[in-house]
Amino acid sequence: MQWSNPPFIHSTLEKIFFGKIETAFPNLTKEQISSCLEITPSKQIKFGHYQCNSAMKLSKLVGASPREIATKLLPKPDVYISSTQIAGPGFINITLKSSFLANRLQSLIKDPRIGIKKVTHPKRIIVEFSSPNTAKELHVGHLRSTIIGDSLARLFEFLGHDVLRLNHVGDWGTPFGMLICYLKKFHPKILSGAEIADLSLLAKWYKESRKLFDQDESFKKASQSEVIDLQARKKDAMDAWGIICQISREGYSEIYDLLDIKIEERGESYYHDALSKVIDYFEEKSLVSNSDGAKCIFLPDFVSKEGNPLPLIIQKSDGGYNYATTDLAALHQRIYEEKANRILHIVDNGQSLHFQMFIKAAELGGYFEGKQTEVQHIPFGLVLGADGTKFKTRAGDSEKLIDLLNLAVSKSYQILKDRSTHLKEAEKHSTAKILGINAVKYADLSSLRTKDYQFSYEKMLQFEGNTAAFLMYAYVRIQSIQAKAHFDLEEAASCAIELKEPQELQLALYLVQLEEVLYSMSETLLPNRLADYLYHLANYFHAFFRDCPVIGSQEEKSRLLLIHLTQKAFEIGFSILGLKTVSRM
Ligand code: ARG
Repeated sequence: MQWSNPPFIHSTLEKIFFGKIETAFPNLTKEQISSCLEITPSKQIKFGHYQCNSAMKLSKLVGASPREIATKLLPKPDVYISSTQIAGPGFINITLKSSFLANRLQSLIKDPRIGIKKVTHPKRIIVEFSSPNTAKELHVGHLRSTIIGDSLARLFEFLGHDVLRLNHVGDWGTPFGMLICYLKKFHPKILSGAEIADLSLLAKWYKESRKLFDQDESFKKASQSEVIDLQARKKDAMDAWGIICQISREGYSEIYDLLDIKIEERGESYYHDALSKVIDYFEEKSLVSNSDGAKCIFLPDFVSKEGNPLPLIIQKSDGGYNYATTDLAALHQRIYEEKANRILHIVDNGQSLHFQMFIKAAELGGYFEGKQTEVQHIPFGLVLGADGTKFKTRAGDSEKLIDLLNLAVSKSYQILKDRSTHLKEAEKHSTAKILGINAVKYADLSSLRTKDYQFSYEKMLQFEGNTAAFLMYAYVRIQSIQAKAHFDLEEAASCAIELKEPQELQLALYLVQLEEVLYSMSETLLPNRLADYLYHLANYFHAFFRDCPVIGSQEEKSRLLLIHLTQKAFEIGFSILGLKTVSRM
């Protein structure tokens, strides 16, 4: 991968190999050399710590075999490198000096970021996530979007970008006509404010209003006239709409609070006034065709299964706008007013075609001309139940999210009740809340985003395996060692870190590598890479602690510093995954 902000070890090794290539092949330009630099961490430590793949890349440029080139690039041992070795077709395996890693770690002891630098050119990044539909409950698909989106936003914030988190709530359109009409008829006190309702009730009424709409012609007519009033922003209709949005908002915030999610609500209604301009804009560019009275954009390369061109409808035959129109308006606003450099939509796989199509339409319409804005749909798979089918409650309805989260917390409490008898009752409850929510988040983030994942309380709450509790257990252990040793950072900071045992070296290497993991996550947008890292970190830490005595040993100070840095790495990783920490469990 080409790094725009090379992590520490990469930049060190890249400098060394740049020099080597320059000397060996003086005719190459700097750009050519740069394009051939490729340093990757080794898959297995027995092959060294890193590997340089430049010989393969140079082969075509200089017309020699990679192995021959590799012999010319082999650096001599120095302060950074202890040994190198050519392997396979021409890889150069590199083993770093333990003193180099020790010095690096030494310099990071008091750095809360443990050396992870911020980007040199911060971008304005919009992360659009969660985005439920007003008057409906959030479902597990929204949960994935919320957890993944929050984690990506946290990552970008940590790396120093300017992040705008947006909740593109589905808060506008024809369904509101039905619901307002229904409330007027059956629950007028809700609209006058004399009675209150919660989101569950509202969602139930919404379903009933839809039924009525399909069955009762006069109700249908009345609903349609409500929509017209709403679009004309008549006070009555707007007030009713406001109440519906407020009830929904309170329902969502219950979930966001529990999950500790910060997000700005900017629903579809925000773009309402810009919708007609979208039509004008595309008409002016002669990109709009009429199809049965609807206004459509036909995009090259998009055809139906039967081979017919697929239209992107931007205005229906009844004059109404739709989902795509709003997305085009939002995209324009985000590029031209928010001046975003990168826009990410965290939305399930099922909507991929919609995103491909409207982004393509924007491209055709010239949205990106003279702009360096990258727009992406960041898809994710389904949440599956234990039986491998789409996650559902026993009642057959999509699971109510708040119940699902609360159940994770109460199950976590049951486990602590039996396991953690040393905790007082109140602490059991507060710890269960953290561990339960952590478990749900981590189960999602540690799965490959693009694939479906199986939701299992039993698995996610376990204390063993790749789970949040297992990671937190390592973190708790660190704190108890520190307490036992009366670890004091100020006092310890002046002591030297020495890396002698293989487990110390492995842990040290890993600590330095967190930076690469985070930067590569900002490219791939796959949180499971960070989850894997933390899982390995926990395992390396346990192996180190098993094999390297700390308290009372000669190496106590050095090892306590290593443990301190491990603690910081966990804290950074946890905070990016949105996991809260506990001090006992
Ligand atoms: N409200 C939509 C849903 O629940 C998701 C919105 C996704 N974002 C977008 N810009 N279309 O399915």
